[in-house]
Amino acid sequence: MQENFLHKKVTIIGTGMVGMSYAYALTIKGFVRELGLINRTPERAQGEAMDLCHCLPFVEPMDIKAGGYEMCRDAQIVVITAGAAQREGETRLDLLHKNAGIIQDIVPRVLEQNPNPILLIASNPVDVLTYVALKVSGLPSSRVIGSGTVLDTMRFRYLISQYYNVDARNVHGYILGEHGDSEVPVWSRVNIAGIPLSEYCMMCGELVDSQKKEIESDVRNAAYHVIQKKDSTYYAIGLALVRITQAILMNQQSVLTVGTLVNGEYGIKDVCLSLPCVVGSNGISQVLANPMQQNEVEALQNSAAVLRKALDSIGW
Ligand code: 2OP
Repeated sequence: MQENFLHKKVTIIGTGMVGMSYAYALTIKGFVRELGLINRTPERAQGEAMDLCHCLPFVEPMDIKAGGYEMCRDAQIVVITAGAAQREGETRLDLLHKNAGIIQDIVPRVLEQNPNPILLIASNPVDVLTYVALKVSGLPSSRVIGSGTVLDTMRFRYLISQYYNVDARNVHGYILGEHGDSEVPVWSRVNIAGIPLSEYCMMCGELVDSQKKEIESDVRNAAYHVIQKKDSTYYAIGLALVRITQAILMNQQSVLTVGTLVNGEYGIKDVCLSLPCVVGSNGISQVLANPMQQNEVEALQNSAAVLRKALDSIGW
């Protein structure tokens, strides 16, 4: 076990607020042995590495270094958070042209140093950029993963847990599709401690349609609301990235709504979006195409159409 632990290496490209919230959480969690930081402004990455190194007396031993793309060598996971962040009034898709170019520049430079990493994409619009990274890298789709709607699913479960006053870890339910305005809350599959929501409602009070719509809106618009108050989001996406990283590095076979290339599920093809996926040391080992209600399938197909249109607009 000790030998296996020593070889856990993650390299982060982009040491902005998302990248460093993720790095800081990884440092506290203690399951990564080597952490590489890359930024287009090298001095910035050096400062972040120095600051994190000062945490080490209080956490598990780590090698934390800043540098160039040579930091990608031997990394099991290379995480890309680089790119422009949403500003107030912007949608994630508004970042498309700017950030697609950044991904097309970064991915080949990673592969030069490391022919077979798992690429974890967090830059927005994450579903479109996951697809671009997949095509540019030539890696198998199991190894190119988007943070997808892991964050939205966290928000969904949190809001339901608040409504029913239960531990959010006992709320199970998924947001699928685009990490964005067309995302799909799968109410038909929500359960609390294994009790289907429809039965739970009868026991503990009805979650009427108006309240469901309010929760849906609060999830879909969470980033806009946070950005309006503090310019950007980073803690929750940082922890979403940690959760995905943990599933990979500890080979947990966890079911997470990460972004993946859809290959016929629900009649959808040739886009990346979020479905429940089994995530372990080789990336995505299985996509769980759960049965859903017809309206949910149609909403997912709409989300796919939004993403396909975005990909077409940049020639992918
Ligand atoms: C979020 O949803 C901005 O995509 C980021 O917090």
